[in-house]
Amino acid sequence: MVTVLTVLISYLLGSISFSILIAKWVKGIDIRNFGSGNAGATNTMRVLGKGPGITVFLLDIAKGIVAVILGIYAAGGDWGPVLCGLAAIAGHNWPVWFGFKGGKGIATTVGVMASLAIVPTLIAGVIAIISIAVTRFVSLGSLIFALLVPIFIWNFGDKPPSYVWAALVICLLAFIRHRTNIVKLVQGKENKLGARKG
Ligand code: G3P
Repeated sequence: MVTVLTVLISYLLGSISFSILIAKWVKGIDIRNFGSGNAGATNTMRVLGKGPGITVFLLDIAKGIVAVILGIYAAGGDWGPVLCGLAAIAGHNWPVWFGFKGGKGIATTVGVMASLAIVPTLIAGVIAIISIAVTRFVSLGSLIFALLVPIFIWNFGDKPPSYVWAALVICLLAFIRHRTNIVKLVQGKENKLGARKG
């Protein structure tokens, strides 16, 4: 019962879409009607600039961290933190407070996976950042990150199987949420970082 409640709270927490809130607050707009239409840090940066974009990124990471901490202390076991982390990402992607139209979950995933397995997440993060710096495609870096995290966690071998399963589910979610980005990448039409769009 406690676990169910904690997972539900994590979903509600993940549903707080900081890109929607900050875009509304800073410019009075619904971020989902601008740029890529995604309610996330990358699109916030694209539409509103670096400051709001980085703020959204950090807050979205924070909600992933808080969800896992909640899972560790309130739910416990190998699955409690994992389920709470997954629930926060689901909330970010399909936020109950904003008509279930949210983001792609990468920043929240960073928070969740860093809390569950810091070293594999850091290594995957560094590789993702390098690939973004080289290609200027945030979506490509996000997908590389999502793909590498489960591989590294599995390879390090010091985490419970539930963490590997969570990372695999998160990877699958990331690919599903980025399907339009994947099509654009293949067609050579994907937005590059730094190219502002109104
Ligand atoms: O995390 C989202 C990013 O990978 C892509 O965002 O706005 O370019 O679709 P966007």
